[in-house]
Amino acid sequence: MNKKTLKDINVKDQTVLVRVDFNVPMEGETITDDGRIVAALETINYLIDQGSKVVLFAHMGRVKEKADKAKNDLAPVAKRLGELLDQEVAFSPVTRGQELEEAIKALKGGDVLLVQNTRYEDIDGNKESGNDAELGKYWASLGDVFVNDAFGTAHRAHASNVGIASHLDSAVGFLIQKELEVIGGAIDHPKRPLIVILGGAKVSDKIGAIENLLPKADKVIVGGGMAYTFLKAQGLEVGKSLLEEDQIDFAKKVMEEADDKLVLPVDVVVADDFSNDANTQVVAIDAIPADWEGLDCGPATVKRFEEVLDGAKTVIWNGPMGVSEMPAFAHGTIGVATATAKLEDATTIVGGGDSAAAVKELGFEEDFTHISTGGGASLTYLEGSPLPGIDAIADK
Ligand code: 3PG
Repeated sequence: MNKKTLKDINVKDQTVLVRVDFNVPMEGETITDDGRIVAALETINYLIDQGSKVVLFAHMGRVKEKADKAKNDLAPVAKRLGELLDQEVAFSPVTRGQELEEAIKALKGGDVLLVQNTRYEDIDGNKESGNDAELGKYWASLGDVFVNDAFGTAHRAHASNVGIASHLDSAVGFLIQKELEVIGGAIDHPKRPLIVILGGAKVSDKIGAIENLLPKADKVIVGGGMAYTFLKAQGLEVGKSLLEEDQIDFAKKVMEEADDKLVLPVDVVVADDFSNDANTQVVAIDAIPADWEGLDCGPATVKRFEEVLDGAKTVIWNGPMGVSEMPAFAHGTIGVATATAKLEDATTIVGGGDSAAAVKELGFEEDFTHISTGGGASLTYLEGSPLPGIDAIADK
């Protein structure tokens, strides 16, 4: 990697502005998964040890009007971070002005301050999300150096990442460094066989990833809602299953280019309603009833996917194999997660909200080499597309 990393810049006794991704799921004021906060601790602890004054910038949700503020308030995140660091974390309830500036001036070496949700700046003219030049310059004026450790936000060009980086010496933090090394290494220099697993609802979301990974992978397993467009492209009827008519030609082209690399479902679980309590049946892919919709892989498909995964040395997985948030349709996702978790001496990577959440819920966290903190960002990286938040960081 040609970008500066944390150890390439002087942070000792400096005021270090750090962009982190603390966009964690909340129920009321309760954080239901603090994984992204935990993932940033290595960088924050290093800066504390270096005597830096640590100023953290983060976003939560989308803030388009005043009513969005309360549910996207970062105060509970500051509290949780304090518990994890075992030290007090100051919190600035504002994103600019005297109160923030005085809070930063009051910091001593090793202190940590979290700034309120950067997207509060979006209410008045999309300043954060639109990378407003004045805002990026103002935030940069509050510190000496900038560290970007928000991998999950790296596909965005916002004032709090790209904007600040264009005014200060900068580096990526340990989390981004690990994400790039592990995912980048698996794509560019995989131990073989490399098996890519793509799922989720839409082919259109995965076009870039398919185009980039198909030539590099030994097999590409396709499951989830996107599989039905491939089945339709083979001339099969898919009933009421998800279908993107406008992607059928793309699916045909992929199947032609793929030779025997593409692994598609051979049977599916169909339901008479999009509900966990719906009536279900397992049918072969050429027998999907007209009034039913496919919501999960069938048992023969799970077996086929397990056979393909057997002996894999690198696995890159993005997207669930069915409607995994409904237990009745989580069998495909569970099957793939279990088969991947069992692999020995393999590099196994999962990214994307639902598939990563399934791996954690199943208790396989320790069995995977890497659970990416990025959803959209990890998919962008799999596509080989630019990540502006990282491109903006100073070169070595
Ligand atoms: C994510 O949750 O994927 C990141 O935090 C980015 O959030 P966004 O999609 O709202 O920009």
